[in-house]
Amino acid sequence: MLETHIGSGGAPRIALAGRPTPLLPADRLAIALDREPGTTWVKRDDLTSLGLGGNKVRKLEYVLADALAAGATHLVTGAGVQSNMARATAAAAAKAGLGCALVLDGAPPPNVSGNLLLDLLFGASVRFRDAADHNHLELLIEEMADELRSTGAVPYVVPVGASTALGSLGYVDAADEIDAQISGSPLVVLATGSAGTHAGLAAGFGDHERVLGVRIGTRDDLESRVAAIADATAERAGRLAPRGRPVLMHDQLGDGYGEHTDACHEAMTMAARTEGLILDPVYTGKAMAGLIAGCRDGRIAAERPLVFLHTGGAPGLFSTSHSDVVSRWLSRE
Ligand SMILES: Cc1ncc(COP(=O)(O)O)c(C=O)c1O
Repeated sequence: MLETHIGSGGAPRIALAGRPTPLLPADRLAIALDREPGTTWVKRDDLTSLGLGGNKVRKLEYVLADALAAGATHLVTGAGVQSNMARATAAAAAKAGLGCALVLDGAPPPNVSGNLLLDLLFGASVRFRDAADHNHLELLIEEMADELRSTGAVPYVVPVGASTALGSLGYVDAADEIDAQISGSPLVVLATGSAGTHAGLAAGFGDHERVLGVRIGTRDDLESRVAAIADATAERAGRLAPRGRPVLMHDQLGDGYGEHTDACHEAMTMAARTEGLILDPVYTGKAMAGLIAGCRDGRIAAERPLVFLHTGGAPGLFSTSHSDVVSRWLSRE
């Protein structure tokens, strides 16, 4: 049976994430970055408890409750071929006994691996299409939903990344969790993609200055998008709009979304060899590269308590395309 709770702003949420997730000290990482032990933690949202975890599970707690209230028979969404969001949506649909239809942007890959393998394992139906941009992808998702409607199904469209005020309530909850787990109003560093995770944290803390988002390249309009979603999320949660302006780091992107960088490889190695943490080359590796760069060049003050939000994404590391690049790079060490 699914457990329903009253969540932030009185919105219903289905318990999917196994909250609270652990907040673990990262002293060996701190020392590698010339920080004092006891100043640095990792918030393990890679360990949310559905379908290999990650940040999307918190968002789906609210989205799934909304879908069920609307009488949905299917969840429909779209994303990249190796999308963690698509995989988490497929897992949530399976858990709720709903169908799941995914529009994956790109050509069918030569090998089924990583998140795509898991989408299929969860029973999702998958369609590969080339989307020119986000707006086009949203249209393709709507097209898929229309097709389902014409068969008598009741599709519920999950917006790309679930980065709406509703989905971002999951990160209002996470902000409250972090402040209940440690004192000192830490700075939280994370990967910012469709921006709902970043925005939800800022709304939860009531302060943009407590969140540092590292751009990983899915969108160019992050400052305005984070601000707008954060305001809408705060309103939905019944809180004041966060003070300040969104803080973003733009220099870890390299050649673009999903393109490997040396700094990301260094970050993946450092996290693995100091803390036993698995990062991925698309999201968390670049976020950790931003944290490392910020500690080294002073953008992150040495005395400021620091939390790295691990948003998951390890299944992507095991996709053929990424594991080939990482293994070539490890063999050159
Ligand atoms: C592992 C991982 N980290 C971070 C993000 C970024 O989250 P958001 O889209 O809410 O900015 C994503 C989004 O797909 C993700 O899969």
